[in-house]
Amino acid sequence: MRIGFFDSGIGGITVLHQALRILPHEDYLFYADTLNVPYGEKAKEEVKQYIFDAVSFIAEQQVKALVIACNTATSVAIRELREKYDFPILGIEPAVKPAVQKSEIHRKKVLVLATSLTLNEEKFHLLVKRLDQHDIVESLALPGLVEFAERFDFDEHRVISYLKRALAVFDLTQYGTVVLGCTHFPYFTNTLRKLLPEDVDIISGSAGTAANLKRILEANQQINSGNGDIVYFKSGVKVEDPETLENYNKLLLKLDEM
Ligand code: DGL
Repeated sequence: MRIGFFDSGIGGITVLHQALRILPHEDYLFYADTLNVPYGEKAKEEVKQYIFDAVSFIAEQQVKALVIACNTATSVAIRELREKYDFPILGIEPAVKPAVQKSEIHRKKVLVLATSLTLNEEKFHLLVKRLDQHDIVESLALPGLVEFAERFDFDEHRVISYLKRALAVFDLTQYGTVVLGCTHFPYFTNTLRKLLPEDVDIISGSAGTAANLKRILEANQQINSGNGDIVYFKSGVKVEDPETLENYNKLLLKLDEM
């Protein structure tokens, strides 16, 4: 059986990329809800409905585990999804814990970049409340990066000018760690690096989620001997057009360079 990966769009490929690294012999089903992306600026109940529809479709394809490769979807729906389905469902959340640990040592702050919905959710507030004892965590929504990624627009000049404007209010020298709390953001890691002081770490939760997936498959004795085959779906329709498949492949190669 395949492992399902779900995101509102192409962001989840950044998590799939990490899974392919450590689980190269699994076969995957990647579902992007491209008809409804972006989730991050929409109302919670609307987004929840999209997620339940998508996961119902994925479940019909028979997956042995599902990764909700989207911070926004994880924060609004993971608990109810786990109640509904009996295969393992993994999520991803902003990597606040390692960020706080790293930054505290150097007496620096943490900047969490995510969608508005993720940042407004109680799940995120509770996470920060539990970990941020010295009040060093700040956050910023960057919906523009989701839009750039969905348009496959990685033009550095345009992205840099958007980021410069968005980051203008922050004194970046005060920060030790930037958390990529949206799975669309790792495509812009190299661009972000150009704007941040050299000693700022940029981290995301994707490697941790992939490691959890491996651990769960091993514990359930469900490791495969496949060949890393990936089938892609866009909002319930199998992707067969060679150009789109080629673009997805290019994203995986782009991530090799990050
Ligand atoms: N990739 C998603 C995340 O990790 C959300 C992007 C969006 O649909 O707004 O939060």
